[in-house]
Amino acid sequence: MFAEIAPRYDLLNHLLSFGTDVYWRDRTVKSSEVLGTGPVLDVCCGTGDLTLAFWRHRRNSFPIVGVDFCREMVQLAKRKADRRHAQIHFIEADGLHLPFPDDTFAVVAVAFGLRNMADTGRGLSEMVRVCRPGGEVMVLEFTLPTLFPINVIFRAYFRFLLPIIGQALAPNRQEAYNYLPASVHEFPQGEALLAEMAKAGLKDLVLRPFSFGIATLYKGSK
Ligand SMILES: C[S@@+](CC[C@H](N)C(=O)[O-])C[C@H]1O[C@@H](n2cnc3c(N)ncnc32)[C@H](O)[C@@H]1O
Repeated sequence: MFAEIAPRYDLLNHLLSFGTDVYWRDRTVKSSEVLGTGPVLDVCCGTGDLTLAFWRHRRNSFPIVGVDFCREMVQLAKRKADRRHAQIHFIEADGLHLPFPDDTFAVVAVAFGLRNMADTGRGLSEMVRVCRPGGEVMVLEFTLPTLFPINVIFRAYFRFLLPIIGQALAPNRQEAYNYLPASVHEFPQGEALLAEMAKAGLKDLVLRPFSFGIATLYKGSK
């Protein structure tokens, strides 16, 4: 599914979110309290927008690494980084079996990716495994706003309009833009996701809603 939509992925992201996805990733990077103390890993990096945001805000020369198991996504990420002369290592790898030793990274982040992994618990425990003691695990994910009337408008847009625009601009056989709202509905939100993160071994857990709760940043330390 991601291979099919890869060429139009960035365009659709920016269009369907009215550009706010850029702001959410920037806020995520800026909210890190340990950025600059060691290497950074972006899991399910896709076309590399969060990885590049880390690179833009980097405070020293620690390695910045992005991994994704979709070759087409990784190729686009590499091309984008090359155009910006960004020193980022993009690797084609499975987030459920990260090819790194324990306790490697100061920051391990994922944006709109954990929901797509076949096993949320395993995805989280791999992120925690490769995070250093004292390091941060960050999860940026879509959530469903609860504030009236934003909740009604957003649900109508997300459920009915977004799939039509998505399929028109990035035709794909898997109906990726029907899968998106369906997967957000099914994925644990708020305290439920914090509980999963606690189960994976994280502490000092916090969540920060963005844009009336359309996206939420979850953070914990190892
Ligand atoms: C919605 S995209 C998010 C991309 C990017 N993080 C962003 O902020 O735009 C989800 C990505 O997760 C990747 N993905 C899903 N399961 C994965 C796994 N087990 N290992 C690595 N990547 C995975 C997909 O290939 C896809 O590129």
